[in-house]
Amino acid sequence: MLIKKPDDIRSSEITPERDYVDRRKFLALAGVAAVGVAGTSRLLSVLRPAPAQPGDDKPNTWEEITNYNNYYEFGTDKDDPAANSQHFRTRPWTVRVDGLVKKPADYHFEDLVKPYKVQDRTYRFRCVEAWSMVIPWNGIPLAEMIQRFEPLPSAKYVRFETIYAPDQMPGQKGNVLPWPYVEGLRMDEAMHPLTLMVTGLYGKTLPNQDGAPLRLIVPWKYGFKGIKAITKISFVDKQPRNTWNIAAPDEYGFYANVNPEVDHPRWTQASERRIGQFRRIKTLMFNGYADQVAHLYAGMDLRKNF
Ligand code: MTE
Repeated sequence: MLIKKPDDIRSSEITPERDYVDRRKFLALAGVAAVGVAGTSRLLSVLRPAPAQPGDDKPNTWEEITNYNNYYEFGTDKDDPAANSQHFRTRPWTVRVDGLVKKPADYHFEDLVKPYKVQDRTYRFRCVEAWSMVIPWNGIPLAEMIQRFEPLPSAKYVRFETIYAPDQMPGQKGNVLPWPYVEGLRMDEAMHPLTLMVTGLYGKTLPNQDGAPLRLIVPWKYGFKGIKAITKISFVDKQPRNTWNIAAPDEYGFYANVNPEVDHPRWTQASERRIGQFRRIKTLMFNGYADQVAHLYAGMDLRKNF
């Protein structure tokens, strides 16, 4: 994200934003001359972002979801995680729960997930780099897990940590990001029924490159909130820092709510490229989940709290 250009797709697959703007200008200027040239209006309609429509929400394929990933522990290119994570050991796996809770413990992965029914949730996924997918996750509402830990009233935030295993994660031997990857949510965000602890994809065990054995998904926020390979969940009273905010505080905030009205300093967030489709589509406020989540941010300045 820091290193890569937005909408980081092979240049053969997509027109860079700058060229796209320039081409629109060029086409507008050339418009008069182009009248009558077959295909011009079709070309223009392809370059202009289409409104987001239900038809755009066809789930992405398994191939797309498991071969186009961000997981810097396994490399910074989109195909690195699939190539480099195959021998990552996800068993045995322990999740430490600590901080302001009545039931702190080290939970074996199996014991952690056993009490719950895994749910199917197909969500829009919007990366801060302005690409998106639709992903049929399987998981457990985080709220159900949190209730079992019995947080104290003084717990205001939840902090998550990825495993630190440089022997298995080549990216952690370098300093492209501070390790381990950390993320955080306000308690009411963590308890929201849309927030999911993901254990699977398309009804199958979660592939390593997508964050096995356990990763977070908060569908109204940019994808970087979705921390992978979680090994620690802490209940705290102060807003925790999150990895991308530590790495580039002017570019990535704590809240990271999808907001087409607040651009990233280096690119627009008003539209997105849905992986597998050619036309850009408009980005929706809170990634289309505004009805369910806008009340969480009533009265907040979303430009300051980006
Ligand atoms: N979690 C860890 N531990 N390391 C990472 O580099 N990348 C984040 C997030 N979680 C990341 C992570 C970013 S930037 C995105 S967009 C999503 O994972 C990508 O999830 P996906 O590969 O399943 O699409």
